[in-house]
Amino acid sequence: MRGIKILGTGVYTPETKVTNDDLSQFMDTNNEWIESRTGIRSRNYSASVPNHEMAAMAAKAAAEDAGVAPEELDLIIASTCSPEFFYPCMSGLVQNIIGAVNAAVMDINTACTGFISAVDIASRYLEDGDYKKILVVASERLSPHVDFEDRSASILFGDGAAAAVIEKSHKPMYSYLSAKGDPFEALYCYVNKEHNCPYTKENEALNAIMDTEAKKNYLQMDGKGVYKFAVDAMATAVTKTLAKAGLTTDDIDLVIPHQANIRIIQSATKALGINPEKVYVNIYEHANTSSACIPTCLDDLKKEGRLKEGMKICLVGFGAGLTSGAIVFEQ
Ligand code: UT7
Repeated sequence: MRGIKILGTGVYTPETKVTNDDLSQFMDTNNEWIESRTGIRSRNYSASVPNHEMAAMAAKAAAEDAGVAPEELDLIIASTCSPEFFYPCMSGLVQNIIGAVNAAVMDINTACTGFISAVDIASRYLEDGDYKKILVVASERLSPHVDFEDRSASILFGDGAAAAVIEKSHKPMYSYLSAKGDPFEALYCYVNKEHNCPYTKENEALNAIMDTEAKKNYLQMDGKGVYKFAVDAMATAVTKTLAKAGLTTDDIDLVIPHQANIRIIQSATKALGINPEKVYVNIYEHANTSSACIPTCLDDLKKEGRLKEGMKICLVGFGAGLTSGAIVFEQ
């Protein structure tokens, strides 16, 4: 039977805090619209720290919090949909920076569902018994991918990194992962690259999709489409995972959802009949940091002393892909 215990958590929050009023200085928007439609008051951007360094700082903090020396880590799984390098993988760069010399590495990308996917993979390695201590780190530097001429999408995102060190527990854990293939309609970000290979031609099918500079260079989102998907995906993922666990929403002490929009969280919470007091939200100051949202919440809760032994916790996320998933575990 799979089970996980969170030994320690860590975050890295980039230095530049940008409020809604700051955005309204160069964009046709205002604090009232952003806060009432999304819950977001501010976000942080990494002006100069690259994504893998953000990840490494969160990873180091998590290892310290767990009381685990970097050499004791057996595996690092990194989640990012905003890598700065195709290779080496971000987990390899983190391994090198923090000195986790004995750790194997791998990256995954299921966008905002990334932390859920990574913990699900980690739990299976822990169950197998080969790896005893696994670091899962999620890090996203989305600010260079966002089109600041698109006021509907750009206001939603922030940069951030967060990590957790986990080991096997004998208390059961259940998970559910899902994907609904989306052909470039709801949410995508193309990797635009120059090349000098004389044999490589422009791809007409891609050109038809990427028919403007913005589509070639920046995150593209159908806000309403994602919103509709998200409410349903969150409710479905929680319901399916609880069914596997033989539990009901009343048995859950804490729900940690992906922080995309306060209204998505509230609608899904209502649909599930969950007491809103059990649902943790920190979107106000962080905005949507994609796969880093859920571990950032975990770190907040751990620092506040609210992650207690024996608690039944539900993590739930959704994102580009369109992916979604949930995990229910007992801490
Ligand atoms: O991790 C997953 C990532 N993505 C998401 O979670 C996205 C989910 N979707 C959403 O959160 C919402 O759909 C948005 C926040 C993106 C948009 O909210 P909405 O309530 O769906 O607004 P809307 O697109 O229907 O726009 C309503 C109005 C429009 O004006 P008109 O046409 O009614 O005159 C927009 O032009 O609000 C306008 N608008 C803005 N006004 C001020 C759109 N963005 C802004 C803005 N400031 N930033």
